[in-house]
Amino acid sequence: MPTDTGAELEELLTRGDLTPVGRISGSSNGALLCLVGDPADELLVIHKPEATERRLWDYPDGTLVERERAAWLVSEAGGFGVVPPTVLRDGPLGPGSVQQWVGPTTGEEDPLVDVVAPHEVPDGWHVVLEGETPLGEAVVVAHCAEPALRTVAVLDAALNNSDRKGSHLMRDGDAVRGCDHGVSLGVEPKLRTVLWGWSGEPIPEADLARLERLAGALEGRLRDELGALLTEDEVDALGRRVAALLRRREHPRPRGGWPAIPWPAL
Ligand SMILES: Nc1ncnc2c1ncn2[C@@H]1O[C@H](COP(=O)(O)OP(=O)(O)O)[C@@H](O)[C@H]1O
Ligand SMILES: [Mg+2]
Repeated sequence: MPTDTGAELEELLTRGDLTPVGRISGSSNGALLCLVGDPADELLVIHKPEATERRLWDYPDGTLVERERAAWLVSEAGGFGVVPPTVLRDGPLGPGSVQQWVGPTTGEEDPLVDVVAPHEVPDGWHVVLEGETPLGEAVVVAHCAEPALRTVAVLDAALNNSDRKGSHLMRDGDAVRGCDHGVSLGVEPKLRTVLWGWSGEPIPEADLARLERLAGALEGRLRDELGALLTEDEVDALGRRVAALLRRREHPRPRGGWPAIPWPAL
């Protein structure tokens, strides 16, 4: 049976049978690749058990999986369409998150972010960091200028995402999706991202409209939904960031003069 409405999908993710099919290599939080649902409508998902979460000193309140769910609610409320549907539920190791897997991809998509020699930066791309390989060759970190990636940069500014690296971005047709929002939505400004290429430039109208929608949603039910996942201070700080973005109407500039970039960048 196709599950085409958001509510049906959320229901399937929350109530469907969860069957682990493998570990996600490189996951620092013990994430599992799973199937959810019965064979007729099963979906590939990533499940992060709370039990294997690596807790971080700068996010002492609640769990990282609660932030993953909160990021999805924020992305949906503004119509950003970046975060795949994410629910909280029980799994084989107790409570955790379940997020729809984006793909499978062919592995041959055009990259969104890359580390290349300075003369190999594709036309129109934004260079965000210059560096050197251990052998002393010059390299740069750069990202493409596609509007869908810019939408991710705007959402990240609202989320205060402190870990937007290349491997947390996936192509999904013409859209760009993002994952791993467990270290976002804190109160202290901590935007750490590879997507600094639009810094100081005007936010496009379509993304301003998304921020307006989000600001409106924060006046209503979204505030209560987020209140069950984040501290009151964190929900207030989200509201302040959204208001500031709408007031300045430009992509944030790095604090302290240099961009905070996660490492590794990819
Ligand atoms: N919803 C998803 N769809 C597709 N790939 C994903 C999804 N979530 C995670 N991944 C892939 O799995 C990797 C590990 O997931 P991530 O959320 O970064 O876990 P961790 O919390 O352990 O850092 C990501 O870098 C990405 O390549
Ligand atoms: Mg990760």
